[in-house]
Amino acid sequence: MSEKTRTSECTRRQFFVRLGLVLSSVAGALVAIPIIGSILEPIFRKPPPEWRPVGLAEGFTQGETVLVKFIDSSPLPWAGVTAETAAWLRRAGQSDFIAFSVNCAHLGCPVRWIAGAKLFMCPCHGGVYYEDGSVAAGPPPRGLYQYPVRINNGQVEILTSPIPVTTA
Ligand code: FES
Repeated sequence: MSEKTRTSECTRRQFFVRLGLVLSSVAGALVAIPIIGSILEPIFRKPPPEWRPVGLAEGFTQGETVLVKFIDSSPLPWAGVTAETAAWLRRAGQSDFIAFSVNCAHLGCPVRWIAGAKLFMCPCHGGVYYEDGSVAAGPPPRGLYQYPVRINNGQVEILTSPIPVTTA
């Protein structure tokens, strides 16, 4: 075999190796992109708000503020029990309900309703909110987020949406 033929074979071999690498990369990308997209899509997708039932209206006492639980508006397929969230629901009148986010407006810790003091208290950094959800003391930059509420066929429903936990 002459030197020229050997050089030509090497070049042909190198060409096919490179072509193989390029085709493998393209095939790998064609398989990987949809898989990665399906994994990341639930994280970046902005879910539409949904009405979630939290109980019959007649089951709530006027003037009381109680904790109600419902499924988050954007549960990830693998969220399990962490998809469950909560709100403080108050029956302010016969057909008037107010739902406060359970998450503090500072850094998102769950606030507690202290009925005797008529205050929401945050255990993390001492944030305090009046009964209307406005800030009474501490670091929260704004009041508690309020969910829209409606009564539908006797059921109290909360319009879920991703909560703007912090504004800072
Ligand atoms: S998270 Fe509530 S005061 Fe900081």
